[in-house]
Amino acid sequence: MKKGRTAFVCQSCGYRSVKWMGRCPSCGEWNAFLEEPEAERQVFRVERESKLLPVDAWEEERYERTSTGYENLDRALGGGLVKGQVCLIAGEPGIGKSTLLLQVCGKTAKDGKVLYVSGEESGGQIAMRARRLGIKSENLLIYPEVVLEKVEQAVRSVKPSLLVLDSVQTVFSEKLESSAGSVSQVREVAYRITELCKELNVPAFIVGQITKEGSIAGPKVLEHIVDAVLQFEGERFTYYRVLKVVKNRFGSTGEIAVFKMGERGLEPVPEPSAFFISERAQAPGSVVFPHAEGSKPVLLEVQSLVIPALYTTPQRRTQGYDPNRLSLLLAVLEKEAKLFTRDADVFVNVAGGMEVKEPAADLAVAVAVVSSKKEKQVPPDTVVFGEVGLAGEVRAVHFAEQRLKEAGRFGFKRAVVPAGTEAPPELGIELLPVSHVSEALELLF
Ligand SMILES: Nc1ncnc2c1ncn2[C@@H]1O[C@H](COP(=O)(O)OP(=O)(O)OP(=O)(O)O)[C@@H](O)[C@H]1O
Ligand SMILES: [Mg+2]
Repeated sequence: MKKGRTAFVCQSCGYRSVKWMGRCPSCGEWNAFLEEPEAERQVFRVERESKLLPVDAWEEERYERTSTGYENLDRALGGGLVKGQVCLIAGEPGIGKSTLLLQVCGKTAKDGKVLYVSGEESGGQIAMRARRLGIKSENLLIYPEVVLEKVEQAVRSVKPSLLVLDSVQTVFSEKLESSAGSVSQVREVAYRITELCKELNVPAFIVGQITKEGSIAGPKVLEHIVDAVLQFEGERFTYYRVLKVVKNRFGSTGEIAVFKMGERGLEPVPEPSAFFISERAQAPGSVVFPHAEGSKPVLLEVQSLVIPALYTTPQRRTQGYDPNRLSLLLAVLEKEAKLFTRDADVFVNVAGGMEVKEPAADLAVAVAVVSSKKEKQVPPDTVVFGEVGLAGEVRAVHFAEQRLKEAGRFGFKRAVVPAGTEAPPELGIELLPVSHVSEALELLF
């Protein structure tokens, strides 16, 4: 048999090369190149007529939203699913993606037909899960199928009010030669399902598998195609699962929805703040920080541990916080507050598995480090937030009032905040405004 031309394709980002490479020059992923037929470069385009009009002539799009049946999930999505919206749910094996989506299907099947396409599990397996979760409905249709063309046909004939595709890596198009899960197939499937959903106004959830090795076609190529990307995470040995919105064309990112995994499936946790600070260590090194990356602030516990260094090069390790930012804060603390950590290992952890990206956490991290180093506890009724600059100055942050409100709701009485922060007196929180990091340390210790 004559072998056609082939190319090596990065399975993470789709970068093409004529020869195999150990590391992708585009996305930096190691060992991600796979040989694929050259002819598959082209995605089969779906024809669509487009109008060319000046901006004023276009009518505004009105998003019609439908509920997923879970209030916290709706809120994270910006008020529910938009018709035709395609959401990618990515998460490690066994985290509960299929469980969550089956439950969402169960809830939404009350209002219309729902189609659950499964390439991973048989109808019987899904039925078993549905019975365990107490889901039954005439409207919930299960279709264990892996051929994209058949899935498209089913979607067209059922016209569901919600479509679930579990998972994008198991479905393949017969028009392409490469195997299911390859980057060409994954892109093709995601692209065609998205086009179909837009055409029929069907909202959809697509499951994206990630393996520890990252060897399966990466969600990176998918992220550009879909409207929203949700990451389902959790610590394997706890019951809690956090769904994070990392991309959303119809709402803000940084939103979260917290669930608890139990015998009867996933149960929403309506008050994430309560969950994140419930097991708070009332000890030196622990600080409560009102985090506001999404529209609803959540209280998080920032922990630090400072101990004499074990080796000549002291370690700086973080979980949920940027390690470079920590090094910078330690330098500022040394220069501006004469707090030396050169001979100490410094660890920082955001409890509950959350990742904090906003600089508003700087002051809380600095305070946690100093608290551990000095072995002095931060008063348990106090929250801390503010961005720290290189000269040790504390800068204002956005959503200050919402952060204080959330802290007030959970009984916190005082807040160390950037100077100039204002809050209405009815919040019942005493403000301790600071303009420099050393001022905050003097106030607290
Ligand atoms: N009988 C059971 N009782 C309680 N919890 C269960 C039971 N069976 C499974 N689970 C929970 O459901 C989880 C698996 O969920 P699910 O199959 O939805 O994950 P997934 O993310 O879809 O995984 P995969 O990527 O393998 O498809 C398990 O990790 C476990 O916590
Ligand atoms: Mg699954």
